[in-house]
Amino acid sequence: MHIIETIDLCHTYKGNISALKNVTFIAPRNTRIAIIGPNGAGKSTLFKHLNGVLKPTSGTVLVRGEPITKENIKEVRKTVGLVFQNPDDQIFSPTVEQDVAFGPMNLGLSEDIVQHRVSEALKFLGLEDYRTRVPHHLSGGEKKRVAMAGIIAMEPQVLILDEPTAGLDPQGIRDVVRYIREFSVKYGMTIIFSTHSISLVAELAEYIYVINNGSFVAKGTVPEIFSRHELLQSVRLDIPVLPKLIRSLQDHGVDIGMAYTYKESEAAFLEAFGKVND
Ligand SMILES: Nc1ncnc2c1ncn2[C@@H]1O[C@H](COP(=O)(O)OP(=O)(O)O)[C@@H](O)[C@H]1O
Ligand SMILES: [Mg+2]
Repeated sequence: MHIIETIDLCHTYKGNISALKNVTFIAPRNTRIAIIGPNGAGKSTLFKHLNGVLKPTSGTVLVRGEPITKENIKEVRKTVGLVFQNPDDQIFSPTVEQDVAFGPMNLGLSEDIVQHRVSEALKFLGLEDYRTRVPHHLSGGEKKRVAMAGIIAMEPQVLILDEPTAGLDPQGIRDVVRYIREFSVKYGMTIIFSTHSISLVAELAEYIYVINNGSFVAKGTVPEIFSRHELLQSVRLDIPVLPKLIRSLQDHGVDIGMAYTYKESEAAFLEAFGKVND
């Protein structure tokens, strides 16, 4: 049984705006999945279905094999944590610690456990000194970390991050990448994220779904999708620069292995060209 599955999911907003058209999507346990596609493709709408924020116009969303109902929505929210694209949609308490405590408190956990989880989440995201700060006055990156802390304090089995690095500075992006890696290892979480950053996909995803106009147009592993340059261009994404460079060196007859992340590329270049000080 997959932890999340959608079958022929359709969503039509008021005004007859068809945002999702027969979307069939599977998230196996313990994988990191990137959903990529242009603005307006339907990524946020899909994510809002995966923990019952929106109701399907038609089709089904299964969480741990069960359709989402009024009766199990609390269980679903415990299993699937969604960090919204815009932290202002998520943060509303007067202090950071109250905000982070809100989700776990709603799960009906004891005060002790809530306090423990809040402390762990704040520590994990480097927010220990922010406990009494007013979330509304924080910077964009800080708000994003508070929103993430509030969700991980619920210890969901699936963590959904809608454009987690949008609007962050380069250090903020590196931090988020590190946190996501650590979440998936520490908690064995399934991670589903959307992004416009092809390097974020290379660093974090094991599997990619490409969405356009409310439908999936491709799915596959990083090597499968990254080699389809026309597809990436058709959905307004950059061609990943490292594999492109390696492919061009291969075309020039250089014996170098394909690589996708920075670390893999470094290893491939060292292998091909040797270490200078050897
Ligand atoms: N609340 C809403 N009411 C009407 N249309 C909406 C609403 N939210 C999103 N849409 C429309 O649905 C489509 C998909 O939007 P969205 O899921 O936000 O895409 P993405 O996250 O990929 O940018 C877009 O055409 C968008 O304008
Ligand atoms: Mg969106």
